[in-house]
Amino acid sequence: MSSHSPPDSFVAVALSNIVGGILGSTQGLLTSIAVFVWDFGMAILNLITQNHAPNRVVPQGYAGANGMWPKYTAPARGDSRCSCPALNAMANHGILPHDGRNITFRELNTAIRNTYNFAPSFCYFVLNYIAGILDRNYWSDSFDLADIDVHNGIEHDASLIREDQFFESDQATISVPLVERLLKSGTGPNGDLTPADLSRLLSQRRAESKAKNPQYSQALQHRLFGSANSSTMLTIFGGKIKDLRPFLLEERIPDKWQPQVTSRMGLTLAAFNGVVTRVELGVRDVGAKREKTKAA
Ligand SMILES: *[C@@H]1O[C@H](CO)[C@@H](O)[C@H](O)[C@H]1NC(C)=O
Ligand SMILES: *[C@@H]1O[C@H](CO)[C@@H](O)[C@H](O)[C@H]1NC(C)=O
Repeated sequence: MSSHSPPDSFVAVALSNIVGGILGSTQGLLTSIAVFVWDFGMAILNLITQNHAPNRVVPQGYAGANGMWPKYTAPARGDSRCSCPALNAMANHGILPHDGRNITFRELNTAIRNTYNFAPSFCYFVLNYIAGILDRNYWSDSFDLADIDVHNGIEHDASLIREDQFFESDQATISVPLVERLLKSGTGPNGDLTPADLSRLLSQRRAESKAKNPQYSQALQHRLFGSANSSTMLTIFGGKIKDLRPFLLEERIPDKWQPQVTSRMGLTLAAFNGVVTRVELGVRDVGAKREKTKAA
């Protein structure tokens, strides 16, 4: 497989990686196909059902319903946190255990759906993938937030909000300079982020990491995770800087906030794929281009 193949969609790449042995087994492949079929069904349901009202996306009876989020408490010493602001924020608000420990994959799936309005197929796909990387069982095991930061599993270099692991071994540490740069980069209305802004920032970060970090590595699947998690800022957060500021700097969900994706079944892999592809295709990746020229 070429290391930089623009026409590949996120789903196609995910599938071929799986074939290539990341999950490695026929069972893994069958599971993935089942998940994509399930996800496609959710995407169709989203087209034919009415969206949630923008101020009532979180289901009634759950944390965040009507914009009422449980109290925020910054993490204490010894609490487990990770590179992902979305999970840390849930722990900071007590939607997950505040110490960030002993969380089952299954409870996390439900909690993420209710908090951020991802489709169940999306949550299952990502969490099952993480369980695989950690060599745990999605259906029966649990983990601490910091566990997911195994380097070059999901966690990878050239983050928009964390220093590379080579410079900062604790990937829960928020890089204020990087976050501030991100928050100043929006060129949309009100300075909000657009897909082009994220492509530009990702290009810049990849070039910086390549230049400064002697252990820089970014396989295609890591580049795609990078465009994927950055794209959640455009979808779930609608690119809105006023909400991203507390979310990224304090890992706090703003008062009255609701997910900006209002689809009834939540954000599907199918819908997300389009945004990710757009962001990743906009990235000018110097190294990858060189490889491509060489290959041609
Ligand atoms: C984790 O939680 C389970 C129940 O949810 C409990 O049985 C187990 O003892 C806990 N483990 C630790 C290390 O706290
Ligand atoms: C995407 O998320 C992972 C895990 O939280 C993180 O290590 C990575 O750096 C992020 N990528 C970008 C481009 O922010």
